Amino acid sequence: MTLPLRPELVEVEPYGAPQLDVPVRLNVNENPYPPSQAVIDEIVEGVRRVASSLNRYPDRDALELRQALSDYLQKESGVRVPKERIWVANGSNEVMLHILEAYGGSGRVMMSFAPTYSMYHEYARDTGTTWVQGERNEDFSLNMETIRAAIEEHHPSVLVLTSPNNPTGTALTIEEVREVAELTRGSGPRINGQSTDTVFVVDEAYGEFRREGVPSALELLEEYEHLIVTRTMSKAFGMAGLRLGYLAAAQVVVDDIMKIRLPYHLSATTQAVACAALKHSDELMSQVAHLRETRDDLHKWLKSLGLEVAESDANFVLFGRFEDREKIFEELLERGILIRVVGPEGFLRVSVGTDEEDSRFRAALKEILK
Ligand SMILES: Cc1ncc(COP(=O)(O)O)c(C=O)c1O
Repeated sequence: MTLPLRPELVEVEPYGAPQLDVPVRLNVNENPYPPSQAVIDEIVEGVRRVASSLNRYPDRDALELRQALSDYLQKESGVRVPKERIWVANGSNEVMLHILEAYGGSGRVMMSFAPTYSMYHEYARDTGTTWVQGERNEDFSLNMETIRAAIEEHHPSVLVLTSPNNPTGTALTIEEVREVAELTRGSGPRINGQSTDTVFVVDEAYGEFRREGVPSALELLEEYEHLIVTRTMSKAFGMAGLRLGYLAAAQVVVDDIMKIRLPYHLSATTQAVACAALKHSDELMSQVAHLRETRDDLHKWLKSLGLEVAESDANFVLFGRFEDREKIFEELLERGILIRVVGPEGFLRVSVGTDEEDSRFRAALKEILK
């Protein structure tokens, strides 16, 4: 039997970081702290409430959840985005897929600048969009000239920048976001003889971990209708298992995405759990403050070992350079510590763990480097 698999998928290996059962897992940038008993109780109560009506389809528009996210964003970044301009889906992975389903497709280009999140090219591939990747500077900052030239050459439908970036941890300044927002005005493909804007996505999956004084791209939403900011509950919020991502944008973006969404794409239980967790956002945010401090300490400590360490506004740190990074990775794994071989040659990425995980990582690395 031969099935008509799309040719571009024939050689593809399914994506996925190793899910190994080891004592210290610092490889996929999760929040290491499980939900508190108060959050668990709220979730159980929320699920109990919806359980009695699971014979019905969920609220297609997830209005209660979108309102809760609107309130949360206001608290977190000081920007009020009305619920109608927030879109929710199963993880920010699915949010990005929705963006590509609406604005990508055959004959169109999606663009980003490496090193960056490795999933973007998969969203492009899955939607038949051409993937174009430029480079960041040596220090992982953006090179505006490279971006300008790439936009002029390719007229992308979608340009995505990650801030804080994965795997480097680098955040964009508000001036950089503004500059790219200007560059992407009128730079999209021509449709019926008319110019379009490039949809400019700032992926803020790690937004809550940014350092004091680093603003969110949310602040520019009112000025740029072609700007989309994506967020997730998987990282700072400690809800990676929930699968809840969202975006904030102009009304027209949400209206466009409504055209491609599956009829009931977000289950009633997902909506209930997310609403329950959002009621405890203050508690979760104080945990984020602690993780930020741990990140800054870890950064300092890695530097004190004489290593090259990228500045980080995220909940992970990229460090190197090792002649044989695989060897360091394996030696850590032998000691029960799983990190990630990712990023430029010679570098490794470690997520910020609990205090105990952090100590175990440091002790093991020190021993290995001795
Ligand atoms: C930059 C970036 N964007 C998006 C995601 C996906 O997050 P989600 O769990 O919301 O799908 C990740 C996950 O690692 C990420 O690093």
